[in-house]
Amino acid sequence: MELYLDTSDVAAVRKLARIFPLAGVTTNPSIVAAGKTPLDVLLPELQDALGGQGRLFAQVMANTAEGMVSDARKLRGIISDIVVKVPVTAEGLAAIKLLTAEGIPTLGTAVYGAAQGMMSALAGAEYVAPYVNRIDAQGGSGIRTVEELQQLLELHAPESKVLAASFKTPRQALDCLLVGCQSITLPLDVAQQFIAMPAVDAAIEKFEHDWMGAFGRTSL
Ligand code: E4P
Repeated sequence: MELYLDTSDVAAVRKLARIFPLAGVTTNPSIVAAGKTPLDVLLPELQDALGGQGRLFAQVMANTAEGMVSDARKLRGIISDIVVKVPVTAEGLAAIKLLTAEGIPTLGTAVYGAAQGMMSALAGAEYVAPYVNRIDAQGGSGIRTVEELQQLLELHAPESKVLAASFKTPRQALDCLLVGCQSITLPLDVAQQFIAMPAVDAAIEKFEHDWMGAFGRTSL
């Protein structure tokens, strides 16, 4: 599977790249806007924070297919192998087809339904990103959408992968992986919750306490 961080926080990527087996970093316009660093500065910094390895994802801003293609070329001018995120609208699908013909890898984003996501895969998107928590927040089932999309891709677009996005809890991410999705992108707080559990710290403290009681030190 592929694990991504969904962030524009360069320092956090540098720190977590040392710890997690990261496949890269995803961004969206809101995440980039929150950091206020323009993409031509931010993306090379993120690449450096990943140690020059891993894939980066950034999203087009135009509303027309031609504009999206132009945005995609600009993004590829900043990072030559970047994956271009394209919202799965009518114009977005047209753009994904054009970009696929140009050999530019895409991710179909803003996916709220399995059929919508499958269309982007059929158009040539390498990744499809269902918005798990946002679907839940609308009264749907994010996990069920991921499961259906996963099955659809396996049956009809095996070249494409689900890259599940929009998580608020580690449980949502785990459930996506359990239904077979091949890649996920996590916000920093959810990624950190994967390994930060009070019970783990308490267990280690107890080991040290017992060792100290027996040997008068905490080292081996
Ligand atoms: C990724 O493609 C999405 O832009 C992102 O994960 C959305 O997350 P949010 O619902 O927490 O904003």
